[in-house]
Amino acid sequence: MASVTTAYTFMHCVLFLLLTVRFSSCFMNWGDGYRRKVSLELNPGLGPSLTPPPGVGLVHARAEGVNDTLHYLFCSQGAPALLLVHTNSSSSTLEVDWRAFLARNTSGSLRVEPQNSILYSNAVVFTRLWEYDDVNDTADPSKVPPSSFLAPYELQTFTWADLNATLDPVSHTALLCGGDGGDSFSNGSLCLKFSAFEAAGREQGWPSLLHNANSSQISVRLDGVKPRSNGSRFSLELQSVGGAYPMSRVDVLRSIDDEYTPSIFKVSQWVSSPPNSSSSGLGYAQWKPVAYRKAKPVFEDATPCHHSLPDPLARLPPSGLVLAFYTEGSHSPTTGLNISFSITGDPYYNTTNYLSWTVLVGLGSAPMDSFSTLVLTIMAVGLGSPLLIILLGGVWVCVRGKATPTPAAYEPIN
Ligand SMILES: *[C@@H]1O[C@H](CO)[C@@H](O)[C@H](O)[C@H]1NC(C)=O
Ligand SMILES: *[C@@H]1O[C@H](CO)[C@@H](O)[C@H](O)[C@H]1NC(C)=O
Ligand SMILES: *[C@@H]1O[C@H](CO)[C@@H](O)[C@H](O)[C@H]1NC(C)=O
Ligand SMILES: *[C@@H]1O[C@H](CO)[C@@H](O)[C@H](O)[C@H]1NC(C)=O
Ligand SMILES: *[C@@H]1O[C@H](CO)[C@@H](O)[C@H](O)[C@H]1NC(C)=O
Ligand SMILES: *[C@@H]1O[C@H](CO)[C@@H](O)[C@H](O)[C@H]1NC(C)=O
Ligand SMILES: *[C@@H]1O[C@H](CO)[C@@H](O)[C@H](O)[C@H]1NC(C)=O
Ligand SMILES: *[C@@H]1O[C@H](CO)[C@@H](O)[C@H](O)[C@H]1NC(C)=O
Ligand SMILES: *[C@@H]1O[C@H](CO)[C@@H](O)[C@H](O)[C@H]1NC(C)=O
Ligand SMILES: *[C@@H]1O[C@H](CO)[C@@H](O)[C@H](O)[C@H]1NC(C)=O
Ligand SMILES: *[C@@H]1O[C@H](CO)[C@@H](O)[C@H](O)[C@H]1NC(C)=O
Repeated sequence: MASVTTAYTFMHCVLFLLLTVRFSSCFMNWGDGYRRKVSLELNPGLGPSLTPPPGVGLVHARAEGVNDTLHYLFCSQGAPALLLVHTNSSSSTLEVDWRAFLARNTSGSLRVEPQNSILYSNAVVFTRLWEYDDVNDTADPSKVPPSSFLAPYELQTFTWADLNATLDPVSHTALLCGGDGGDSFSNGSLCLKFSAFEAAGREQGWPSLLHNANSSQISVRLDGVKPRSNGSRFSLELQSVGGAYPMSRVDVLRSIDDEYTPSIFKVSQWVSSPPNSSSSGLGYAQWKPVAYRKAKPVFEDATPCHHSLPDPLARLPPSGLVLAFYTEGSHSPTTGLNISFSITGDPYYNTTNYLSWTVLVGLGSAPMDSFSTLVLTIMAVGLGSPLLIILLGGVWVCVRGKATPTPAAYEPIN
């Protein structure tokens, strides 16, 4: 009897330990600990003899690894663009022929040297902001008649504020804000905040995407823009240019954890991957399908967003950076998609005049949320405490069993 109890106790104990070990390993499941040395520079190599036109700037974030370098280029010449170049050398450099670069039409005026160290490159360009009058409250641009669409804002024509004023080399961020100069933007702006990262982590504000040393982030914010109709909703057009493989499909995956992004259980990944490999991607743009209608959002300020299917496009996007790095043609395949914000029943843009959405752009496979520490602790306590009780119970039974001697026989009554 006692030995059976001991055996059970032992098994429980082993089980408990196994679970604990399994959980603890999850605690550290925030990427592989890979770190990079990140440095930011504005307009690298630009001599004093040349002055770029107002609002044109090129941010170079160099993220150096042990044997490799990630170059992020964030540029406001033409449509705002983020270019990512991965090289297999920790000493690769960026070369800009500024005169040709500012002429906007010379392929090869921006290069990463040595050219044969380039393993992968990909650009994401923010091309247009669409606005439509959603009179029937469908919140679905594909169901809205073309006549409801207002002329899109072409971001290549926007006037951008000086990047030098917002570049922060310490936090590795740069903020680009601009407008079309018209009445709608007289009190408002479209802003893109670029961030590069040295290691795995999360930013404070929602959606708190998990990032790692191989990723960068852009937060888009449409603040104080005067809508051109009472039922205005927006969608944002993105285009992507890839070297060997363009970002050609969007995978929507289940996300297990909503602690960091409340009520959102999905994550969308626009991926570039060789046709035969399904697991390891080359590069990605990842977002949670949520936008926020206030700068300091509470739960109710979240609004879902949707993407259209990526379409192959015939021309390179109108970004000075892309035109300088890539060559028009089959070697630079381009795809595009729209991110539309809100669903039926959600308030129109005019209620808060604010919208923000965040995307992670990086190398390899996108980081995936694992169970968070809080959830794990709850699970460990929830599953662990019954086991612990059984364990302690077992021990108590054992000890009791040994401590109280079983009466051998009846005591003779005198
Ligand atoms: C980042 O990239 C480097 C070099 O390709 C790789 O060794 C590392 O595992 C990657 N880290 C993550 C978290 O993807
Ligand atoms: C870096 O390259 C050197 C020599 O090519 C090699 O010995 C080393 O293992 C590499 N380190 C990493 C982290 O890949
Ligand atoms: C680029 O544009 C400049 C002036 O805008 C022009 O002189 C030059 O010929 C153009 N170069 C190419 C390759 O189109
Ligand atoms: C980097 O890649 C290029 C081309 O893929 C190759 O020729 C070169 O040997 C590689 N260098 C290192 C250090 O791996
Ligand atoms: C709104 O819905 C009505 C009825 O379904 C339809 O006749 C009308 O064309 C729709 N208008 C727009 C702008 O979608
Ligand atoms: C950026 O601003 C700093 C001062 O804020 C100034 O010293 C520097 O010359 C500026 N750089 C450029 C490229 O405009
Ligand atoms: C811009 O904002 C100011 C103050 O917030 C206000 O007085 C002005 O009327 C606004 N202009 C427009 C065009 O909305
Ligand atoms: C918005 O609605 C108000 C009242 O319903 C109307 O006077 C105004 O013209 C509308 N504005 C636009 C841009 O349609
Ligand atoms: C926004 O537009 C809707 C629909 O026309 C209108 O009913 C509402 O009053 C507007 N809200 C604000 C804050 O202007
Ligand atoms: C992908 O698979 C197809 C057939 O399944 C094969 O013909 C092709 O060569 C493969 N491509 C690569 C890059 O492995
Ligand atoms: C984005 O949406 C607009 C309006 O529906 C459409 O004209 C455009 O072709 C779309 N862009 C892409 C890349 O799908």
